[in-house]
Amino acid sequence: MKLFNIILASALALAATACDDDKNPHPAYVNGTETENPNTPDNPEPGTEVSSSRNEQYRPQVHYTPAKNWTNDPNGMVYVDGVYHLYYQYNPQGNDWGNMSWGHATSTDLIHWEEKPVAMLRNEWGDIFSGSAVIDKDNTAGFGKGAMLAFYTGSGEHQQQCLAYSTDGGLTFTQYEGNPVIANTVLGDFRDPKVIWHETTKQWVMSLALGWDHKIEFWGSKDAKNWEKLSTFTTDAARSNIGQWECPDLFPLQYKGQEKWVLIVSNNPGGPAGGSGIEYFIGDFDGKEFKAMDLAYPLWLDYGADNYAGVTWSNTGDRKIMIGWMNNWNYCGNVPCSPWRSAFTLPHELKLVEVNGSPLLAAPVVSELDAIAGSWTSAADGNVGALDAYEAKFTIKTNETSTFRLENTKGQYLEFEVNGTEKMLIAKRTSATGEVRFNNLFSVPSISAPLNCEGDEMEIHVVVDRSSVELFSTGGATCMTNIVFPIESYNIISGVSGVEYRQLSSIW
Ligand code: FRU
Repeated sequence: MKLFNIILASALALAATACDDDKNPHPAYVNGTETENPNTPDNPEPGTEVSSSRNEQYRPQVHYTPAKNWTNDPNGMVYVDGVYHLYYQYNPQGNDWGNMSWGHATSTDLIHWEEKPVAMLRNEWGDIFSGSAVIDKDNTAGFGKGAMLAFYTGSGEHQQQCLAYSTDGGLTFTQYEGNPVIANTVLGDFRDPKVIWHETTKQWVMSLALGWDHKIEFWGSKDAKNWEKLSTFTTDAARSNIGQWECPDLFPLQYKGQEKWVLIVSNNPGGPAGGSGIEYFIGDFDGKEFKAMDLAYPLWLDYGADNYAGVTWSNTGDRKIMIGWMNNWNYCGNVPCSPWRSAFTLPHELKLVEVNGSPLLAAPVVSELDAIAGSWTSAADGNVGALDAYEAKFTIKTNETSTFRLENTKGQYLEFEVNGTEKMLIAKRTSATGEVRFNNLFSVPSISAPLNCEGDEMEIHVVVDRSSVELFSTGGATCMTNIVFPIESYNIISGVSGVEYRQLSSIW
């Protein structure tokens, strides 16, 4: 490239970054620098209608994406009357972060999604930031038996917690006239209310994140309107304190016949691969205080670069199902996707498992994936043929050092190293993977995860879509989600033998 063009490109990139800063007061927005990117999409003008067959380059075929525009965190997930609701941070006016609203999609099987009208738009309390939804079976709030209650952070001059309710099955919401239910004029970061019903103390319990203070506050309420602070959780685990804490979730799971509580905290930019990541603590909750067990924190739900802000559906009984945002604040504003930007992970079912004598939170993909899967077939030479999306499984030796690759016929590949001495799995997201130049933080040459293995062999599963690879060790005790932008899907798995695969049909 000629010198003049390089200078022009740098000037434009700087201008774009400055302009983004003006438009996007969200502190986490794009930490990296936008770099030369021949594929940078033009953002649709506000209000422009973009019809989409959801078949553009890089468009995921088995992961939910809205037809158009920017999206980040999943919000307000609740299951009711056979329908899974997925609300999400959404910009109805463009493909960059801004005008934060709750987009909405529904599913009856967690795999096929139907996009619905935007459920909540920016209001007098500010942007509609992340939050949660519950079903008020006993009419504690007085909006009617079975009303859907949504809690979100109104992000204006201050971040305050607000309540809205729906009596039409989650399509539209009415704002509670007493908002904000938790006022704040002091704290800078105070957001992402996740509400559960705590049966033993017969109250609603809300978890709230205090960003750079590295604290989660728990608040309690009998009527979802009047709240009192119950306690504050924090930790000394050093890595946990590198980033800001966001999007908490608290729920019980069985472990060896006993009830244990899991506290989820999203951490940005302290994540394991740089930028955004989800960590968790395991312990006990008595309706007031969460006490973490003494474990080797930080523990990460996913060691990849692209699983963030994940929380669980409410009203699913003992089953805890999580979905995450498949992106990273380091470069999310520049990923080469248009007219949409960002997908969600596949839903994961969370379980506490014992590995080498310690509890771990495993997050395998939900079994509902079977609905779009063909039958298992063995892949001669690891080649699965020209598929947009598939699941594959194979066995690796955990006591040796080896490499395997997911490749395409254009010579692009994502390489993994198995380090049998350190018992680590390392993904190499280099320029060989495909398009990486849109942001200088996207290439991460070593994304490392503990193998969490007990024997000398373990089964690996990968779910490959057009622009993502989700990797799981046996039972999901190690998860690694990475987005990639290869010119065609990776259809060959090399460096391992005995590959079996099954096609995943497009959900669109
Ligand atoms: C996490 C987050 C939340 C906030 C939302 C704003 O990605 O920063 O803390 O509510 O995004 O879009």
